[in-house]
Amino acid sequence: MNPQDVLAELTALQSGDVPTHGGATMAYVYDSGRPDVDELAAAAQVAFQWTNALDPTAFPSVARIENDLVGAALALLGGGPDAVGTLTSGGTESCQLAVLAAREQWRARGGTGRPRLLLPVTAHAAFRKAAHLFGIEVVDIPVDRDTCRADPSAVVRQLDERTVLVVVSAPSYPHGVLDPVGQIAGLAAAAGVPCHVDACIGGWILPFLDDVPEPFDLSVTGVTSLSVDLHKYGYAPKGVSVLLTATPELRHAHWFSTAGWPGYPVVNPTLAGTRPAGAMAAAWAVHRWLGTGGYRELARSARQATVQLADGVAGIRGLRVVGRPVATLVALAEDGPDGVDVLNLADEMTARGWLLQPQPPFAQPAGELPATLHLTVTAATAGRVDALLTDLADAARSAAALPRPVPDRDLVAAAATIDPAALTVAEVEALLELAGVAGGALPERMAPVHALVAALPRPVAERLLAGVLGRVYRPSVSG
Ligand SMILES: Cc1ncc(COP(=O)(O)O)c(C=O)c1O
Repeated sequence: MNPQDVLAELTALQSGDVPTHGGATMAYVYDSGRPDVDELAAAAQVAFQWTNALDPTAFPSVARIENDLVGAALALLGGGPDAVGTLTSGGTESCQLAVLAAREQWRARGGTGRPRLLLPVTAHAAFRKAAHLFGIEVVDIPVDRDTCRADPSAVVRQLDERTVLVVVSAPSYPHGVLDPVGQIAGLAAAAGVPCHVDACIGGWILPFLDDVPEPFDLSVTGVTSLSVDLHKYGYAPKGVSVLLTATPELRHAHWFSTAGWPGYPVVNPTLAGTRPAGAMAAAWAVHRWLGTGGYRELARSARQATVQLADGVAGIRGLRVVGRPVATLVALAEDGPDGVDVLNLADEMTARGWLLQPQPPFAQPAGELPATLHLTVTAATAGRVDALLTDLADAARSAAALPRPVPDRDLVAAAATIDPAALTVAEVEALLELAGVAGGALPERMAPVHALVAALPRPVAERLLAGVLGRVYRPSVSG
């Protein structure tokens, strides 16, 4: 083989993937629609792909890159004179470190017992993972059923001496709405509890828009940390996010340092040891190339497309936009007596070449949130909103003619008797066969699977979902 053949093989592997560019994949990817941005990012990534950001004294270039990007984020997002920050590998790691730092500070202040995290149900799942990893109890904060914004009165009721952190989203991933940041951060501050703003997805969009309804960043009283992902609307390649903290003490609380082994002294600001510098350098290059003006243009174009999309949906029978989307994320739900099942709609849109992300119905203390379809709008979608709306209207008609996905009653009843913690991998596989998820491949129509997942007890659903991925990740037989 020659290197070209190897690369051709890799390219062939991608033929089954959803497209990363072109604006039709409306989750997972963020396309600026600008080849110049992508080319620059790629070149910067290549230049730094062997650099190890583990040690900024050996590689001062990465310290400079990190300081420049953190400085830019602080300038954009209301950082005060004491505020600092850290580059991480992504939103999940930024959220985890925010939770870890809050827990460490709470402990340092003498906190005892099991720490608690007040989490609006719409906050990203990354916080649940953080709580799981760091031994913290999650306290679900309900959201208003119409606006899908976190309920401040529930926060007040739950704040106590074991609360290590309150989280709000700017905006939330599922519905793209802005939590009442000022109100909740103020309540937290009055109780002496820190407040994290998860602006992973909105933090590099909202500052460039004129119609943001209320302040949401570090300048808001009571906000102690904020996460923002450069690999989302910073249009950098995957693997780079920023965690900002209002004080260096809070940043120090998520660092780890040890001289307790015979090897090199270790100071890790993040969860990783070796830190890839490629995405950091690419983010730096894209930021330098686009500048504030470039980002503003891209943000406005994506926002305009979002507004056009939301207006267009109002004209499609059986569908509505959930709440008030403030940035470039939209959630669609079924509407009225002729409501269209959005899980069927997702399948119909897949058949038309779009990826709209199905979000199952969700039971919360203040009443169930309906199933929705999530759309992340980027600058690359901007030129395609008319086509998207045409396909959406057509798909809605087709979806309305389909039977609603109904989970198998016997299966749901049987699942209620299962203790998921006791299931072996083989038993999970057998259950998946029963549920119709046979073999390695997922069915073409996913609506029945999502409906089943929503009907199962949550811990059972979680175990089965992991089982599905267990089937996807099977070592290739080599040789
Ligand atoms: C609001 C929010 N927080 C956190 C995350 C997690 O980010 P990542 O997928 O980069 O780990 C996301 C991802 O979409 C997000 O939208």
